[in-house]
Amino acid sequence: MCGIIGITGRDDAVDGVVNGLRRLEYRGYDSAGAVINDGRELRVVKRAGKLGELVKALGDTPLSASTALGHTRWATHGAPNDRNAHPHLDPSGRVAVVHNGIIENYQELRASLGDGVRFASDTDSEVVAHLVADELDRTQDADLFTAVRTVLARLKGAYSLCFVAVDDPTTLVVAKYEAPLIVAHADGVGYCASDVAALIEHTTEVAALLDGQVARISPDGIEVTDVDGASVEPHRYTVDWDLSAAEKQGYDHFMLKEIHEQPQAVADTLLDRLNAPAPGQPARLTLDELRIDEGEFGRIDKVFILACGTSLHAGMVGKLAIEHWAGIPVDVEVASEFRYRDPIVDPHTLVIAISQSGETIDTIAAASHARDQRAPVIAISNVVGSTLAREADGVLYTHAGPEVAVASTKAFTTQIVACLLLGLYLAQARGRLYTSEVSDTLGRLEQIPAALEQVLELDGQIRELAERYKDVDYTMFIGRHAGLPIAMEGALKLKEISYLHAEAFPAGEMKHGPIALIEDGSLVVALAPAGHVFPKMVSNIQEVRARGASVLAIGTEGSTEELKAHADDVLTLPEPPHELAGPVLSVVPLQLFSYHVATARGEDVDQPRNLAKTVTVE
Ligand code: M6R
Repeated sequence: MCGIIGITGRDDAVDGVVNGLRRLEYRGYDSAGAVINDGRELRVVKRAGKLGELVKALGDTPLSASTALGHTRWATHGAPNDRNAHPHLDPSGRVAVVHNGIIENYQELRASLGDGVRFASDTDSEVVAHLVADELDRTQDADLFTAVRTVLARLKGAYSLCFVAVDDPTTLVVAKYEAPLIVAHADGVGYCASDVAALIEHTTEVAALLDGQVARISPDGIEVTDVDGASVEPHRYTVDWDLSAAEKQGYDHFMLKEIHEQPQAVADTLLDRLNAPAPGQPARLTLDELRIDEGEFGRIDKVFILACGTSLHAGMVGKLAIEHWAGIPVDVEVASEFRYRDPIVDPHTLVIAISQSGETIDTIAAASHARDQRAPVIAISNVVGSTLAREADGVLYTHAGPEVAVASTKAFTTQIVACLLLGLYLAQARGRLYTSEVSDTLGRLEQIPAALEQVLELDGQIRELAERYKDVDYTMFIGRHAGLPIAMEGALKLKEISYLHAEAFPAGEMKHGPIALIEDGSLVVALAPAGHVFPKMVSNIQEVRARGASVLAIGTEGSTEELKAHADDVLTLPEPPHELAGPVLSVVPLQLFSYHVATARGEDVDQPRNLAKTVTVE
């Protein structure tokens, strides 16, 4: 989704903004723009397409000033072209704005300005620049900070907004409501950005604005108020990611780098989870932040897991773990559906909201819907200080480090690990497992990173398979039990970066309809580890093969020999240290397969078409 970066107080502010936009490219966008404020005029350059187009245009029109603001736009209102790209100016060129989110009442606001007013774009955002400029004209002694606060009272929708005004050449004014915005000040330079990735090259000491907060940023410092002008505190924190983690480090793509980072990411997520409450007491599994009494978990009688996309698939594994270890019934639900029905939620319902970014609007809204009904909410997130993490009653962080590729990989495997930890934690809190059983199981999970290293050695074999299957018309992924979420994740990964038609089904459901799609030339990817559902998977493999499909089976050491008799190709994974840890291993060949298919087809792996990394609109 859209990205924002603003800098004030550096001679090379425009270069800094372009670098910041580069670090925000991963969010997904279709146009980019920048404005500089040199105290005489606001100069805007913006272009449809990739950042390179903007950089070329900036080269043709060199801009220099100590205050600049940049934006990458992911189109919602109006086509992705030059005129709809941000920043937007008011007609007199006095105020410029960039905006993430949606101004829902923009048509009403446009109409309120009268028939004579011309708009230079089709966006919902431009009207905000007009309103602020009008406010400055109307109130002779108003400054930008005051004028923005007055206008905010009229806006409906979600926004992070950043303004510059020609009369105030060293100031950025920013406002946040239901879309993330981070501010920072270091060495006499003020910054704002839509996420920390754009700031970590400058500072790791940042503050996230909370809903309804407005800030004035200048080289002297940052002042934060509410919309009425009363001084308030944002959420200040230290970012524990270093710059190298957000760079490719020799890999061709972020996605490939992130796939290879999974052993470390899983190890980091498992690290230091056992703590003794007092000397001599047995060590107990702990969450990172818990703002509810642990005893409350004994009273939980139902769990909802809410998430979107890949995080939802991790939640499906979470369901198996919680039901198995903690014995509580679990529903897994697409977050965007949950709040528009009447879910039965009460204080005895535990809600687990999973989001890599912690900024997915659907997941945040679903969790807050549950909290309104007094259900405790635990967040699983990869981003410390994210909105979801801040608003939840408890947090379990996945320590995957920054995930830049749009296609989620290391976030997924660490989310599964977090779900396994949460299943054990709930079992411990409810007395379903002895502390020794919890620590024994944790000991087994600690073998996952080594097993992942072994799986990554299959890369060469997977690349050859990808070459062979890269032009297949239709791919069906099938699995049962813990294999089903991975089949779904495999299909999502393949479609999002290679644009091939791929779907996933529970293997047992195929005969109820989907098998009609199978014909000569179809590819079926079957998750078939050794275990209690293996014989059923073998039957399903035979059924699709009999109808002309090629079968690529993902087996484990205990199942491969038999699979070789039924499948065209077999990949052999090590036996997982626990059946519920199997998905962490079996997803990796599917991630690599998608990656190699997409690169063989020449697709833009890290920034696939139409997709955004963080989905901050509904
Ligand atoms: O940040 P989140 O985990 O909330 O994001 C949820 C989905 O948008 C995300 O997992 C998406 O499906 C990925 N592109 C999948 O690779």
